[in-house]
Amino acid sequence: MKKLKIGFVGVGCISGIYLKNIQNTFDNIEIAGICDLEPEKCTAAAEKFNIPKIYGDMYELFADPEVDIVLNITRPYEHYEVTKAALLAGKHVYSEKPLSPDLNEARELYALAKEKGLYLGGAPDTFLGAGIQTVKKLIEDGYIGRVIGGRAHMASRGPENWHPDPEFVYQYGGGPMFDMGPYYVTAFINLMGRVTEVCGMTSRSFERRPITSEKKYGKIMDVEVPTYVEGIMRFESGAIAQLFTTFDICTKSGILFEIYGTEGSIRVPDPNTFGEPGVQLLRLGAEKYENIPLVRNYSGNSRALGLAEMAECIVDGTLHRANSAQQLHVVEIMSAFYRSSDEHRFVKIESDYEPGKPMSFYEVTGKTYV
Ligand SMILES: NC(=O)c1ccc[n+]([C@@H]2O[C@H](COP(=O)([O-])OP(=O)(O)OC[C@H]3O[C@@H](n4cnc5c(N)ncnc54)[C@H](O)[C@@H]3O)[C@@H](O)[C@H]2O)c1
Repeated sequence: MKKLKIGFVGVGCISGIYLKNIQNTFDNIEIAGICDLEPEKCTAAAEKFNIPKIYGDMYELFADPEVDIVLNITRPYEHYEVTKAALLAGKHVYSEKPLSPDLNEARELYALAKEKGLYLGGAPDTFLGAGIQTVKKLIEDGYIGRVIGGRAHMASRGPENWHPDPEFVYQYGGGPMFDMGPYYVTAFINLMGRVTEVCGMTSRSFERRPITSEKKYGKIMDVEVPTYVEGIMRFESGAIAQLFTTFDICTKSGILFEIYGTEGSIRVPDPNTFGEPGVQLLRLGAEKYENIPLVRNYSGNSRALGLAEMAECIVDGTLHRANSAQQLHVVEIMSAFYRSSDEHRFVKIESDYEPGKPMSFYEVTGKTYV
Protein backbone atom coordinates (compact mmCIF):
# COMPACT_ATOMS: atom_id res chain seq x y z
CA MET A 1 0.00 0.00 0.00
CA LYS A 2 1.30 3.46 -0.88
CA LYS A 3 1.68 5.63 2.22
CA LEU A 4 1.48 9.38 1.67
CA LYS A 5 3.76 11.59 3.74
CA ILE A 6 2.44 14.51 5.75
CA GLY A 7 4.35 17.73 6.52
CA PHE A 8 3.04 19.66 9.53
CA VAL A 9 2.96 23.46 9.47
CA GLY A 10 2.27 24.28 13.12
CA VAL A 11 2.65 21.94 16.10
CA GLY A 12 0.55 23.83 18.66
CA CYS A 13 -2.28 22.70 20.92
CA ILE A 14 -4.20 20.51 18.44
CA SER A 15 -1.16 18.87 16.82
CA GLY A 16 -0.84 16.06 19.40
CA ILE A 17 -3.98 14.21 18.33
CA TYR A 18 -3.01 14.47 14.63
CA LEU A 19 0.50 13.14 15.37
CA LYS A 20 -0.89 10.32 17.53
CA ASN A 21 -3.59 9.24 15.08
CA ILE A 22 -1.31 9.36 12.03
CA GLN A 23 1.12 7.10 13.88
CA ASN A 24 -1.39 4.76 15.54
CA THR A 25 -4.72 4.78 13.72
CA PHE A 26 -4.32 5.27 9.97
CA ASP A 27 -2.12 2.95 7.92
CA ASN A 28 -2.08 4.96 4.69
CA ILE A 29 -0.37 8.13 5.96
CA GLU A 30 2.87 8.83 7.81
CA ILE A 31 4.71 11.86 9.14
CA ALA A 32 7.42 13.39 6.92
CA GLY A 33 8.34 16.18 9.33
CA ILE A 34 7.20 19.27 11.18
CA CYS A 35 7.86 23.00 11.46
CA ASP A 36 6.67 25.79 13.75
CA LEU A 37 7.49 29.47 14.28
CA GLU A 38 8.39 28.45 17.85
CA PRO A 39 11.26 25.92 17.51
CA GLU A 40 10.86 24.61 21.07
CA LYS A 41 7.41 23.26 20.14
CA CYS A 42 9.07 21.24 17.36
CA THR A 43 11.72 19.86 19.72
CA ALA A 44 9.06 18.79 22.24
CA ALA A 45 6.85 17.16 19.56
CA ALA A 46 9.82 15.46 17.86
CA GLU A 47 10.94 13.91 21.14
CA LYS A 48 7.47 12.73 22.13
CA PHE A 49 6.53 11.31 18.72
CA ASN A 50 9.96 10.34 17.36
CA ILE A 51 9.62 12.57 14.30
CA PRO A 52 12.21 12.18 11.53
CA LYS A 53 12.62 15.81 10.38
CA ILE A 54 12.29 19.33 11.75
CA TYR A 55 12.26 21.95 8.99
CA GLY A 56 13.63 25.48 9.51
CA ASP A 57 10.43 26.99 8.12
CA MET A 58 7.41 26.16 5.98
CA TYR A 59 9.24 26.94 2.72
CA GLU A 60 11.89 24.32 3.54
CA LEU A 61 9.05 21.88 4.20
CA PHE A 62 7.37 22.74 0.86
CA ALA A 63 10.70 22.17 -0.94
CA ASP A 64 11.01 18.61 0.42
CA PRO A 65 10.03 16.19 -2.39
CA GLU A 66 9.15 13.61 0.31
CA VAL A 67 6.16 15.70 1.50
CA ASP A 68 2.96 14.68 -0.33
CA ILE A 69 0.41 16.65 1.73
CA VAL A 70 0.89 19.82 3.77
CA LEU A 71 -1.14 19.80 6.99
CA ASN A 72 -1.91 23.42 7.86
CA ILE A 73 -2.73 23.60 11.58
CA THR A 74 -1.81 27.22 12.16
CA ARG A 75 -4.18 29.83 13.64
CA PRO A 76 -7.24 30.81 11.54
CA TYR A 77 -5.79 34.19 10.48
CA GLU A 78 -2.70 32.34 9.15
CA HIS A 79 -4.54 29.67 7.13
CA TYR A 80 -4.78 31.60 3.85
CA GLU A 81 -1.11 32.56 3.64
CA VAL A 82 0.15 29.05 4.48
CA THR A 83 -2.32 27.21 2.23
CA LYS A 84 -1.67 29.54 -0.72
CA ALA A 85 2.10 29.20 -0.43
CA ALA A 86 1.82 25.40 -0.19
CA LEU A 87 -0.44 25.18 -3.26
CA LEU A 88 1.89 27.47 -5.22
CA ALA A 89 4.74 25.12 -4.25
CA GLY A 90 2.74 22.26 -5.84
CA LYS A 91 1.62 20.46 -2.66
CA HIS A 92 -1.78 19.03 -1.78
CA VAL A 93 -3.12 20.74 1.38
CA TYR A 94 -5.33 19.72 4.29
CA SER A 95 -6.16 22.71 6.51
CA GLU A 96 -7.73 23.15 9.92
CA LYS A 97 -10.98 25.14 9.89
CA PRO A 98 -11.87 27.61 8.53
CA LEU A 99 -10.42 27.42 5.00
CA SER A 100 -9.94 31.17 5.48
CA PRO A 101 -11.94 33.60 7.60
CA ASP A 102 -12.31 35.81 4.50
CA LEU A 103 -14.78 34.65 1.84
CA ASN A 104 -12.81 36.07 -1.09
CA GLU A 105 -9.62 34.42 0.13
CA ALA A 106 -11.48 31.11 0.55
CA ARG A 107 -12.77 31.42 -3.03
CA GLU A 108 -9.25 32.18 -4.26
CA LEU A 109 -7.79 29.08 -2.54
CA TYR A 110 -10.57 26.88 -3.93
CA ALA A 111 -9.90 28.19 -7.46
CA LEU A 112 -6.11 27.94 -7.10
CA ALA A 113 -6.26 24.26 -6.08
CA LYS A 114 -8.55 23.52 -9.05
CA GLU A 115 -6.29 25.40 -11.47
CA LYS A 116 -3.22 23.50 -10.24
CA GLY A 117 -4.97 20.11 -10.13
CA LEU A 118 -4.15 19.71 -6.43
CA TYR A 119 -6.25 18.29 -3.60
CA LEU A 120 -7.40 20.83 -1.03
CA GLY A 121 -9.53 19.90 1.95
CA GLY A 122 -9.76 20.15 5.65
CA ALA A 123 -11.44 20.17 9.00
CA PRO A 124 -13.81 19.40 10.41
CA ASP A 125 -13.76 15.67 9.74
CA THR A 126 -16.05 14.76 12.64
CA PHE A 127 -18.93 14.44 10.14
CA LEU A 128 -17.18 11.31 8.84
CA GLY A 129 -17.34 9.73 12.30
CA ALA A 130 -19.77 7.15 13.64
CA GLY A 131 -22.19 9.70 15.13
CA ILE A 132 -23.10 11.92 12.18
CA GLN A 133 -22.82 8.97 9.75
CA THR A 134 -25.35 7.01 11.83
CA VAL A 135 -27.71 10.00 11.76
CA LYS A 136 -27.21 10.27 7.99
CA LYS A 137 -28.19 6.62 7.63
CA LEU A 138 -31.32 7.07 9.79
CA ILE A 139 -32.40 10.01 7.63
CA GLU A 140 -31.65 8.22 4.35
CA ASP A 141 -33.50 5.12 5.54
CA GLY A 142 -36.60 7.25 6.18
CA TYR A 143 -36.81 6.99 9.99
CA ILE A 144 -37.97 10.61 10.44
CA GLY A 145 -39.74 11.09 7.11
CA ARG A 146 -39.01 14.31 5.20
CA VAL A 147 -36.51 16.58 6.98
CA ILE A 148 -38.14 19.93 7.74
CA GLY A 149 -35.81 21.58 10.21
CA GLY A 150 -32.96 21.56 12.69
CA ARG A 151 -31.58 23.39 15.69
CA ALA A 152 -28.12 23.52 17.24
CA HIS A 153 -26.79 25.33 20.24
CA MET A 154 -23.08 25.62 21.15
CA ALA A 155 -22.83 27.81 24.23
CA SER A 156 -20.01 28.22 26.75
CA ARG A 157 -17.94 30.84 28.55
CA GLY A 158 -15.12 30.34 26.03
CA PRO A 159 -11.93 28.25 25.88
CA GLU A 160 -9.64 30.63 27.83
CA ASN A 161 -9.88 28.45 30.95
CA TRP A 162 -8.05 25.54 29.22
CA HIS A 163 -6.30 26.70 26.01
CA PRO A 164 -2.71 27.78 26.78
CA ASP A 165 -2.70 30.45 24.01
CA PRO A 166 -6.37 31.44 23.52
CA GLU A 167 -5.79 34.97 22.11
CA PHE A 168 -6.52 33.88 18.50
CA VAL A 169 -10.01 32.78 19.50
CA TYR A 170 -10.98 36.45 20.01
CA GLN A 171 -9.02 37.85 17.05
CA TYR A 172 -9.92 38.13 13.36
CA GLY A 173 -10.88 34.64 12.16
CA GLY A 174 -12.00 33.55 15.64
CA GLY A 175 -15.18 33.99 17.69
CA PRO A 176 -17.60 31.15 18.46
CA MET A 177 -19.01 31.04 14.91
CA PHE A 178 -15.70 30.78 13.03
CA ASP A 179 -14.05 28.66 15.73
CA MET A 180 -16.87 26.21 16.53
CA GLY A 181 -19.45 26.96 13.83
CA PRO A 182 -17.65 24.85 11.17
CA TYR A 183 -18.43 21.66 13.12
CA TYR A 184 -22.15 22.46 13.23
CA VAL A 185 -22.57 23.97 9.77
CA THR A 186 -20.65 21.06 8.22
CA ALA A 187 -22.87 18.57 10.06
CA PHE A 188 -26.02 20.45 9.02
CA ILE A 189 -25.11 20.55 5.31
CA ASN A 190 -24.09 16.90 5.31
CA LEU A 191 -27.46 15.95 6.80
CA MET A 192 -29.70 18.55 5.13
CA GLY A 193 -27.93 19.57 1.91
CA ARG A 194 -27.11 22.90 0.28
CA VAL A 195 -28.01 26.20 1.97
CA THR A 196 -29.53 28.90 -0.25
CA GLU A 197 -30.15 31.84 2.07
CA VAL A 198 -29.38 32.93 5.63
CA CYS A 199 -30.01 35.64 8.18
CA GLY A 200 -28.14 36.40 11.35
CA MET A 201 -27.67 38.63 14.36
CA THR A 202 -24.40 39.14 16.20
CA SER A 203 -23.13 40.95 19.27
CA ARG A 204 -20.02 41.20 21.46
CA SER A 205 -20.76 41.02 25.19
CA PHE A 206 -17.25 41.82 26.50
CA GLU A 207 -14.59 44.10 25.02
CA ARG A 208 -11.80 42.50 27.03
CA ARG A 209 -11.47 39.11 28.72
CA PRO A 210 -8.92 37.62 31.15
CA ILE A 211 -7.08 34.39 30.38
CA THR A 212 -7.73 31.91 33.21
CA SER A 213 -5.65 28.95 31.99
CA GLU A 214 -2.31 28.37 33.71
CA LYS A 215 0.40 29.59 31.31
CA LYS A 216 -0.90 33.15 30.79
CA TYR A 217 -3.20 33.42 33.84
CA GLY A 218 -4.51 36.99 34.29
CA LYS A 219 -3.41 38.32 30.88
CA ILE A 220 -6.15 40.53 29.40
CA MET A 221 -7.22 39.84 25.80
CA ASP A 222 -8.96 42.32 23.50
CA VAL A 223 -12.10 40.89 21.88
CA GLU A 224 -12.06 41.84 18.19
CA VAL A 225 -14.97 39.73 16.90
CA PRO A 226 -18.64 39.00 17.71
CA THR A 227 -18.98 36.43 20.47
CA TYR A 228 -22.76 35.96 20.50
CA VAL A 229 -23.96 34.84 17.07
CA GLU A 230 -27.39 33.60 15.97
CA GLY A 231 -27.85 32.29 12.44
CA ILE A 232 -30.80 30.87 10.53
CA MET A 233 -30.33 28.87 7.32
CA ARG A 234 -32.79 28.01 4.59
CA PHE A 235 -31.89 24.86 2.65
CA GLU A 236 -32.52 24.08 -1.01
CA SER A 237 -35.00 21.41 0.19
CA GLY A 238 -37.10 24.12 1.88
CA ALA A 239 -36.05 23.03 5.40
CA ILE A 240 -34.92 25.65 7.94
CA ALA A 241 -32.30 25.33 10.70
CA GLN A 242 -31.12 27.58 13.48
CA LEU A 243 -27.56 27.72 14.86
CA PHE A 244 -26.66 29.60 18.04
CA THR A 245 -23.01 29.94 19.08
CA THR A 246 -21.57 31.93 21.95
CA PHE A 247 -18.53 32.14 24.23
CA ASP A 248 -20.29 34.57 26.57
CA ILE A 249 -22.67 32.68 28.84
CA CYS A 250 -22.72 30.39 31.84
CA THR A 251 -24.81 27.34 31.09
CA LYS A 252 -25.02 23.71 32.07
CA SER A 253 -27.36 22.79 29.21
CA GLY A 254 -24.54 21.27 27.19
CA ILE A 255 -24.65 20.90 23.44
CA LEU A 256 -28.02 20.70 21.76
CA PHE A 257 -28.32 19.45 18.19
CA GLU A 258 -31.59 18.14 16.77
CA ILE A 259 -32.90 17.36 13.31
CA TYR A 260 -36.68 17.39 12.79
CA GLY A 261 -38.64 15.35 10.24
CA THR A 262 -42.31 14.85 9.38
CA GLU A 263 -42.29 11.44 11.14
CA GLY A 264 -39.84 11.96 14.00
CA SER A 265 -36.83 13.77 15.46
CA ILE A 266 -33.19 12.87 16.01
CA ARG A 267 -30.85 14.03 18.78
CA VAL A 268 -27.55 14.36 16.92
CA PRO A 269 -24.22 13.78 18.74
CA ASP A 270 -22.00 16.80 19.41
CA PRO A 271 -20.29 17.40 16.05
CA ASN A 272 -17.13 18.44 17.90
CA THR A 273 -16.85 14.72 18.73
CA PHE A 274 -17.03 11.60 16.57
CA GLY A 275 -20.17 10.26 18.24
CA GLU A 276 -20.70 11.43 21.80
CA PRO A 277 -23.09 11.36 23.60
CA GLY A 278 -24.77 9.01 21.11
CA VAL A 279 -27.77 9.14 18.78
CA GLN A 280 -31.38 9.20 19.96
CA LEU A 281 -34.54 8.86 17.89
CA LEU A 282 -38.06 10.02 18.79
CA ARG A 283 -40.66 8.50 16.46
CA LEU A 284 -44.01 10.19 15.89
CA GLY A 285 -46.36 9.11 18.71
CA ALA A 286 -43.62 7.45 20.81
CA GLU A 287 -43.48 8.14 24.57
CA LYS A 288 -39.74 8.69 24.70
CA TYR A 289 -36.48 8.80 22.78
CA GLU A 290 -34.80 5.48 21.93
CA ASN A 291 -31.02 5.04 21.92
CA ILE A 292 -29.70 4.10 18.49
CA PRO A 293 -26.52 2.02 18.21
CA LEU A 294 -23.76 3.64 16.15
CA VAL A 295 -23.63 1.69 12.90
CA ARG A 296 -20.41 3.15 11.50
CA ASN A 297 -16.73 3.19 12.45
CA TYR A 298 -14.65 5.91 14.11
CA SER A 299 -16.54 6.85 17.27
CA GLY A 300 -13.43 7.78 19.30
CA ASN A 301 -11.29 10.87 18.76
CA SER A 302 -10.34 10.11 15.15
CA ARG A 303 -8.99 13.54 14.08
CA ALA A 304 -7.01 13.08 10.85
CA LEU A 305 -9.75 10.79 9.49
CA GLY A 306 -10.52 13.40 6.81
CA LEU A 307 -6.81 13.65 6.01
CA ALA A 308 -6.49 9.85 5.74
CA GLU A 309 -9.56 9.74 3.49
CA MET A 310 -8.13 12.53 1.31
CA ALA A 311 -4.85 10.58 1.02
CA GLU A 312 -6.80 7.50 -0.07
CA CYS A 313 -8.63 9.57 -2.71
CA ILE A 314 -5.35 11.05 -4.00
CA VAL A 315 -4.05 7.52 -4.61
CA ASP A 316 -7.36 6.42 -6.23
CA GLY A 317 -7.95 9.68 -8.13
CA THR A 318 -11.42 10.13 -6.58
CA LEU A 319 -13.12 13.04 -4.79
CA HIS A 320 -12.53 13.27 -1.05
CA ARG A 321 -15.40 14.14 1.29
CA ALA A 322 -13.79 16.81 3.51
CA ASN A 323 -13.16 18.82 0.35
CA SER A 324 -12.70 22.54 -0.33
CA ALA A 325 -16.15 22.93 -1.97
CA GLN A 326 -17.61 21.94 1.40
CA GLN A 327 -15.22 24.21 3.31
CA LEU A 328 -16.07 27.12 0.98
CA HIS A 329 -19.83 26.58 1.44
CA VAL A 330 -19.30 26.63 5.22
CA VAL A 331 -17.22 29.85 5.10
CA GLU A 332 -19.83 31.52 2.87
CA ILE A 333 -22.68 30.57 5.25
CA MET A 334 -20.83 31.78 8.37
CA SER A 335 -19.73 35.03 6.66
CA ALA A 336 -23.32 35.59 5.56
CA PHE A 337 -24.57 35.45 9.18
CA TYR A 338 -22.28 38.43 9.91
CA ARG A 339 -23.21 40.24 6.71
CA SER A 340 -26.92 39.76 7.37
CA SER A 341 -26.47 41.24 10.85
CA ASP A 342 -24.40 44.18 9.57
CA GLU A 343 -26.72 44.95 6.64
CA HIS A 344 -30.07 44.04 8.29
CA ARG A 345 -31.18 41.75 5.44
CA PHE A 346 -31.32 38.13 4.22
CA VAL A 347 -28.20 37.07 2.32
CA LYS A 348 -28.24 34.62 -0.63
CA ILE A 349 -25.63 31.85 -0.73
CA GLU A 350 -23.93 31.37 -4.10
CA SER A 351 -21.56 28.41 -3.69
CA ASP A 352 -22.58 24.98 -4.95
CA TYR A 353 -22.55 22.05 -2.62
CA GLU A 354 -23.52 18.42 -2.64
CA PRO A 355 -23.07 16.19 0.45
CA GLY A 356 -20.56 13.38 0.01
CA LYS A 357 -21.79 9.81 -0.15
CA PRO A 358 -22.13 8.04 3.21
CA MET A 359 -19.11 6.32 4.72
CA SER A 360 -19.10 2.55 4.63
CA PHE A 361 -17.28 0.14 6.90
CA TYR A 362 -13.50 -0.12 6.45
CA GLU A 363 -13.50 2.48 3.73
CA VAL A 364 -10.57 4.39 5.16
CA THR A 365 -7.48 2.29 5.52
CA GLY A 366 -6.44 1.73 9.09
CA LYS A 367 -7.40 0.20 12.33
CA THR A 368 -11.00 0.53 13.43
CA TYR A 369 -11.15 3.19 16.12
CA VAL A 370 -14.06 2.53 18.48
N1 LIG B 1 -6.85 23.63 20.17
C1 LIG B 1 -7.89 22.88 19.84
O1 LIG B 1 -8.47 22.17 20.69
C2 LIG B 1 -8.36 22.82 18.42
C3 LIG B 1 -9.32 21.87 18.12
C4 LIG B 1 -9.73 21.73 16.80
C5 LIG B 1 -9.21 22.56 15.84
N2 LIG B 1 -8.30 23.53 16.15
C6 LIG B 1 -7.82 24.40 15.08
O2 LIG B 1 -6.45 24.10 14.85
C7 LIG B 1 -5.74 25.28 14.46
C8 LIG B 1 -4.59 25.48 15.41
O3 LIG B 1 -5.11 25.63 16.71
P1 LIG B 1 -4.19 25.42 17.99
O4 LIG B 1 -5.11 25.47 19.13
O5 LIG B 1 -3.29 24.24 17.80
O6 LIG B 1 -3.34 26.79 17.91
P2 LIG B 1 -1.91 27.09 18.56
O7 LIG B 1 -1.77 28.57 18.64
O8 LIG B 1 -1.74 26.29 19.80
O9 LIG B 1 -0.89 26.51 17.45
C9 LIG B 1 -0.71 27.08 16.18
C10 LIG B 1 0.76 26.94 15.85
O10 LIG B 1 0.99 27.31 14.49
C11 LIG B 1 2.29 27.89 14.42
N3 LIG B 1 2.45 28.64 13.17
C12 LIG B 1 1.75 29.70 12.76
N4 LIG B 1 2.18 30.12 11.54
C13 LIG B 1 3.18 29.28 11.18
C14 LIG B 1 4.03 29.19 10.05
N5 LIG B 1 3.94 30.07 9.04
N6 LIG B 1 4.97 28.23 10.04
C15 LIG B 1 5.07 27.35 11.06
N7 LIG B 1 4.30 27.38 12.17
C16 LIG B 1 3.35 28.33 12.23
C17 LIG B 1 2.34 28.78 15.69
O11 LIG B 1 3.66 29.11 16.03
C18 LIG B 1 1.64 27.89 16.71
O12 LIG B 1 2.57 27.10 17.44
C19 LIG B 1 -6.77 26.41 14.47
O13 LIG B 1 -7.27 26.58 13.18
C20 LIG B 1 -7.86 25.89 15.39
O14 LIG B 1 -9.13 26.43 15.04
C21 LIG B 1 -7.85 23.65 17.42
